[in-house]
Amino acid sequence: MNELISICEAEMKAKFSDEGSGHDWFHILRVRNSAEKIAVAEGANVEITILAALLHDIDDHKFNGGDVKAGPIAAYNFLLSIGAKTDLAQSVADIVDQVTFKGAGVDTPVTSIEAACVQDADRLDAIGAIGVARAFAFGGCKGRLLFDPDDVPAPHQDFESYKANKGATINHFFEKLLLLKDRMQTNTGRALANDRHAFMQQFLFEFFDEWGVSRNWGGEK
Ligand code: ADP
Ligand code: NI
Repeated sequence: MNELISICEAEMKAKFSDEGSGHDWFHILRVRNSAEKIAVAEGANVEITILAALLHDIDDHKFNGGDVKAGPIAAYNFLLSIGAKTDLAQSVADIVDQVTFKGAGVDTPVTSIEAACVQDADRLDAIGAIGVARAFAFGGCKGRLLFDPDDVPAPHQDFESYKANKGATINHFFEKLLLLKDRMQTNTGRALANDRHAFMQQFLFEFFDEWGVSRNWGGEK
């Protein structure tokens, strides 16, 4: 096993083992494993992809007061501290910088195939059954309502308004999760996203039926 990968795994496992918002070590491990699978299928550099997947949430803007540059810097510094070469650390930091979702109206382009693999893997973990579970874990952690029928979803047009949003968790499906299937960067990611998307649509129809609002609440799914 590659030594840098082993050290990163141990560090992230120790740091995130009891995180309660759905950004725990098992999220990182699932992203690492999906990113590796996508990288192999897409012919990307597997070492860079795995290191970036492991470090992608090392200092997340959602938990550090909104600083988006802290993650890439922390990933870069950590890799240097464990003996990585500067080019490798820079490649990983560039990927960490390109993973995060920034709002419905904001493009998040990637500059390498490895970044595409990690962005797709992270987004796959935001949808499907696990995505549903993670969204409500995050909402609970931040003290959000499950659902408010009067609180209309807002497709955020800039990162600042997306970050500032404090809406009910159901809105997050319309503001991010249902959009991800069409924003996958790789063919492998696109193929994996379809079933997970269909499960979320089904979940929402059922949720709205049980609540007693129109199953078309929120519009197109
Ligand atoms: P990203 O960097 O794209 O936000 P992460 O891996 O850090 O990706 O985690 C995103 C996950 O956090 C979402 O998929 C969701 O589960 C949760 N999350 C983030 N914002 C919200 C929100 N406003 N409401 C509910 N869940 C949220
Ligand atoms: Ni993540």
